[in-house]
Amino acid sequence: MTALLELENVGKRFPVGRRRFFGGTPQPHVHAVDDVSLTVDRGETVGLVGESGCGKSTLVRLITRLLDVTTGKIWFDRRELAEVPARVFARDDDRAHIQMVFQDAGESINPRFTAANAIADPLRRLLGLRGEALTARVEEAALQCGLPSELLGRFPHQLSGGQRARVGIARAIGTRPRLLVLDEPTAALDVSVQVTVLKLLQRLKADLGLSYIFVSHDLNVVRLLCDRVVVMYLGRIVESGPAAEVFAAPLHPYTRSLVAAVPRLDGERVEAARLTGEPRSPIDPDPNACRFHGRCPVGVARCGTEMPPLRDFGGGRFAACHFAGQAGDRWDKVTST
Ligand SMILES: Nc1ncnc2c1ncn2[C@@H]1O[C@H](COP(=O)(O)OP(=O)(O)OP(=O)(O)O)[C@@H](O)[C@H]1O
Ligand code: SF4
Ligand SMILES: [Mg+2]
Repeated sequence: MTALLELENVGKRFPVGRRRFFGGTPQPHVHAVDDVSLTVDRGETVGLVGESGCGKSTLVRLITRLLDVTTGKIWFDRRELAEVPARVFARDDDRAHIQMVFQDAGESINPRFTAANAIADPLRRLLGLRGEALTARVEEAALQCGLPSELLGRFPHQLSGGQRARVGIARAIGTRPRLLVLDEPTAALDVSVQVTVLKLLQRLKADLGLSYIFVSHDLNVVRLLCDRVVVMYLGRIVESGPAAEVFAAPLHPYTRSLVAAVPRLDGERVEAARLTGEPRSPIDPDPNACRFHGRCPVGVARCGTEMPPLRDFGGGRFAACHFAGQAGDRWDKVTST
């Protein structure tokens, strides 16, 4: 099966500090995303997890073309994104192929737009719809997201958090995308509202045959919603694989610490030692050291001089650690602390 989305060695660096015009010191850069390769298949939900600042939002902004890559390539349906102007790409067969749902719909929706206008905006801008065709598509998207028509004339501040989230989702699906990129779509919501929004997302995926990239801090949500999970640490993928397997038996020490920190609904536990030390700086990190070195409870001297590649462990599982696969034994020696 060919992938719907394919990222090949994608990197994004941001210049930081004062711009250097003269002298030998090169401009420092934050390596927000570094050498990321991944695929998303049709109908698949891929969860993207990792601590704050690890590059999740930057990565999804590259995919949605809000940012341009520094290195590497992104392919959508076998076409390279950079080679297709965004508007042309969007207009192709009357749909915008990739759409994004942001964390806080209250902030991402223009406060002067009514709900109807917010949903209409990408349809006007990207697909050039007007008049009755536009109204029909707005009503269709609102209906699919369970938004009653009497709410469509309201402004964001007149809507509840859950209703605003639905407007954000209706705005994204109105253009009939094939891939929806959701960056913490429920993080700003109360737990009970989160559940209804997650159910809506599950239903839309089934009804519309969508693929999702789902960024979340909530591993229990990712476990429930996602087929596959990708774990990032300081800009790099450290582990990926089928969500159920990664959560049940993580291969990478960082994944293990993430999973161990979350109480599981089924009462099972993954043991892990507490992390020590500070995260390494994302500014011009040492290309020859594991990014987790210094914080990793099972790291050794070699980890400071040799970057572990992302290795294939079979069954769709990948991990970037010199000791992945053997780490269980090594962990057992340190988990008693
Ligand atoms: N425009 C920018 N200029 C400079 N640095 C940036 C810029 N955007 C992001 N960064 C840096 O890139 C790194 C990754 O940031 P990003 O927002 O992608 O992380 P994240 O995983 O989404 O974090 P969070 O979970 O807090 O949303 C961080 O070190 C951040 O400070
Ligand atoms: S390579 Fe070394 S420092 Fe990096 S995660 Fe593995 S054991 Fe830890
Ligand atoms: Mg983010």
